[in-house]
Amino acid sequence: MLGATAHGIDRRLFSEADAGARGLFAQWARAANYAVEQDRAGNVFARRAGLRAGAAVLSGSHLDTVPTGGPYDGAYGAVAALCALEELDAAGILTEHPVEAVAWAGEEASRFPLGCLGSGAFAGLNDLASIDLLRDENGVSFAAARAAAHGLLPGVPVRDTFPAPAGYVELHIEQGPVLEHGGVRLGIVTAIAGQARFDVEVHGESGHAGTVPMGLRRDALSSAAELVLELEAAAADIGEAVLTVGRLVVFPNQANVIPGRVALRVDARSVDEMRLTALRTAVVECAERVAAQRSVRIETTLIEERRAVVMDRRLRLAVAEAIAELGEAAIDVPSGAGHDAMCLAAVAPAAMIFVPSAGGRSHVGNEYTAPADLQLGVTALTRSIAAIDRLLAKDS
Ligand code: GLV
Ligand code: MN
Ligand code: MN
Repeated sequence: MLGATAHGIDRRLFSEADAGARGLFAQWARAANYAVEQDRAGNVFARRAGLRAGAAVLSGSHLDTVPTGGPYDGAYGAVAALCALEELDAAGILTEHPVEAVAWAGEEASRFPLGCLGSGAFAGLNDLASIDLLRDENGVSFAAARAAAHGLLPGVPVRDTFPAPAGYVELHIEQGPVLEHGGVRLGIVTAIAGQARFDVEVHGESGHAGTVPMGLRRDALSSAAELVLELEAAAADIGEAVLTVGRLVVFPNQANVIPGRVALRVDARSVDEMRLTALRTAVVECAERVAAQRSVRIETTLIEERRAVVMDRRLRLAVAEAIAELGEAAIDVPSGAGHDAMCLAAVAPAAMIFVPSAGGRSHVGNEYTAPADLQLGVTALTRSIAAIDRLLAKDS
């Protein structure tokens, strides 16, 4: 497995493993006779011609992972889209629109601090010039990383434009327990939760761990710990919302030095815009309260904000009908996880299909979806692409 480690899969954007995965995607697509291109953001496209030229129906997902990721989050949807092109060929289905399988670059925010970089650039939500300025933990910019050895793929033509698609459908593992609990093998996504991410810096006062009396300290880590607990309680109070502090860096991180500074990142989500607003307010208010109580300085910076996105009603119906024709049951499910479909929905009607995740596990090395469910997802995706193509062809 490309990027496999003892803790799961580490395939951060423009790493050797990520370049390997994008290269394999291009190689498999060429072997199946699809035209392969990439754009300047690092997205890779495999194109199956349609009866008409012009805007394509797109399907795909991302190949990058969190540092301790599983094998299916993202990669399944990208590879499944390629499989769907081949199933269309095998079934002799000609589509009006070209159909493109896409591997989106950098959905996970695991190397650079923002998520959905490739799909965001494609959809015009983030311009490439500002993405280029983002830096990873080692100070390497996105621009330098995409120009380096494991950046854009050698020998693959580069598109200079981000052409608007006709429609988009993404297949993904659910990453939660709802389908498994319901005994259902397919989900049709209703909406994707909005997200707000903050960088928070707690500035206290560093000093000698043995000499500064407890009552005279301004310990940045103790203050950060209090803030984390306050935020957890605030999210629970708001309800139907989640908040996570999954990243925390302590300076100088030394046993005999009082922590003088702590950097943490807050990830807050809800499908409900009012709750997301309440979460954002809670981050600022909790920070002010802890800062006042503990005589520290706390800076909060909103670094990323994505509104909740409702999936297109007509495409959802087309997907539901395609699944019903297969004789399979499907239920409507919201997505707490973010997806490239959030960005695509800004430029085209978009839909998503989920298959079950064992134990609802994801962003961990032991993600699992049964092979029969993976195959069912591909078949449902193929039929959905054909149905969406027919639906959109009627409009044009
Ligand atoms: C991506 O997986 C996210 O939801 O953060
Ligand atoms: Mn993920
Ligand atoms: Mn994903």
